[in-house]
Amino acid sequence: MDRIKVHDKTFKTLITYDSLMEAIDRVAGRIEADFKDSKEVPVLLCILNGSIMFTAELMKRLDIPVELISMKLSSYSGMKSTGKVREVMGLTGSLEGKTVIVIEDIIDSGRTIEDIARIVKEKGAKETRICTMLFKPACYTKDIPIDYVGMEIEDDFIVGFGLDYDELGRNRKDIYVLDKAMKYFILFGPPGAGKGTQATAMVENYNLCHISTGELLRGEIAKGTELGLKAKALIDAGELVPDEVVEGMIENKFKTVTGVSGFLLDGFPRTIAQAQALDAMLAKSQEEVTACVSLMIPDEMIKERIKHRASVEGRADDANDETINNRIRTYHSKTEPLVEYYKNAGKYEEIDGIGTIDEVRGRIADVMDKF
Ligand code: AP5
Ligand code: MG
Repeated sequence: MDRIKVHDKTFKTLITYDSLMEAIDRVAGRIEADFKDSKEVPVLLCILNGSIMFTAELMKRLDIPVELISMKLSSYSGMKSTGKVREVMGLTGSLEGKTVIVIEDIIDSGRTIEDIARIVKEKGAKETRICTMLFKPACYTKDIPIDYVGMEIEDDFIVGFGLDYDELGRNRKDIYVLDKAMKYFILFGPPGAGKGTQATAMVENYNLCHISTGELLRGEIAKGTELGLKAKALIDAGELVPDEVVEGMIENKFKTVTGVSGFLLDGFPRTIAQAQALDAMLAKSQEEVTACVSLMIPDEMIKERIKHRASVEGRADDANDETINNRIRTYHSKTEPLVEYYKNAGKYEEIDGIGTIDEVRGRIADVMDKF
């Protein structure tokens, strides 16, 4: 099986070019049979851009006379249908009085095809037939009959053979399905629990990308960016930076990091709103949080560890007792509610953070190995 990367996602082969060609042979045979004794010259209405490859392959196989007209619609951006269908580019020819075979790459809910059928009728077509390369019967909610179907598929996100993910992937000759094997681990815990300390081994052992929002923010501060300047005052006071700021950072990493089996989110999410935003981000590609791995230590130990780290690393937010106390308060009021959130989702894995670094690492490995 072949694996490809399109933007931030990994896809694996679902339908090979050869099977697609066999399916198109069958569709062409049926259209040929339906029109060979007819005086009608059907119009193949290619719905751009997705249907380009399918239309071309289909046309090559037809001996009956056919016309070709194209039309472009935009129905979604990203990985989920937005529910709105707009006519973006007009028709390249007249449909008045003609028998039209709409050529689609894929039909799922049927919202798009319903709009297309309406547009075709408004343009004066005598008869409309629907032909699609791929059909998701489990998702179809409309009554319009689909006259010609190349293949039926499950409700998965796919690319290739004309289909795209944010405009890339259309040029692949096979069809690929999203590989949902990507793992999303949250490394949770109060300040000083050992998240950063334990992250190194975790990313190495499980081929994850470590994203520490705290480190990203300290990087912005060091570079003196506008974001860094705003974040500095809040971090120095032991407060959280605004949700949108860290959410943007996380989404950007998801989109740009490649070649890993998943992500280890250290210090994110830190509020219920951030957890919901993360769920929504992943839901766009039918993905979800794998587990929330939580390192727990008592407040007194937080202070001890942070005092020790202040002498080693010199982090500004470790220097002052008031800042440390406020970080602990912020943790209890804003971040700790996430324990319930992930317990309710059945994704909460608590680990005793007391003990040597090696002992804690062993406990983490026992949990991580389950996934
Ligand atoms: P961030 O950098 O994430 O800080 P934190 O959550 O307070 O966590 P720490 O990095 O302090 O602790 P850690 O668990 O990584 O501990 P470590 O391994 O270093 O965030 C900083 C700030 O950025 C926040 O306060 C906030 O303002 C902002 N921010 C970040 N994310 C945000 C978000 N999502 N939303 C809004 N704002 C955000 O260990 C600590 C010390 O203990 C080390 O010296 C280590 O050597 C030692 N140690 C570790 N394990 C052991 C052990 N088992 N035994 C003995 N010593 C140990
Ligand atoms: Mg840390």
